Amino acid sequence: MSSIEITVIDREGVETPGVDWEDDESLMECLVRNSFPILAICGGNASCSTCHSFLDQVSFVTAGEIDEDEADVLDSLNDSEREPTSRLTCQIAWDTDLAGAVVRIGPF
Ligand code: FES
Repeated sequence: MSSIEITVIDREGVETPGVDWEDDESLMECLVRNSFPILAICGGNASCSTCHSFLDQVSFVTAGEIDEDEADVLDSLNDSEREPTSRLTCQIAWDTDLAGAVVRIGPF
């Protein structure tokens, strides 16, 4: 089992460094296990948007392509909710290159 550390910023702006992300988890599963307020209602199927969060710019590029299902869900968000680095965290796979990522939890 390998893990990396990321920083998470919650909806109140509180920053938590050193959050452990294990290699068998999606980013959503990491956030849920670490008790961040991610509902993940659809269970990671890219259909609910309750795992929506923002990545730092470098990690957004590292995380790779957004597939069609995720793009459809992101397109359904209000303009006020979506940002250029919006992602569904359930669609982000663990990657050593994401060590040090800064993840800001999206609005409800
Ligand atoms: S958990 Fe539903 S879209 Fe990610």
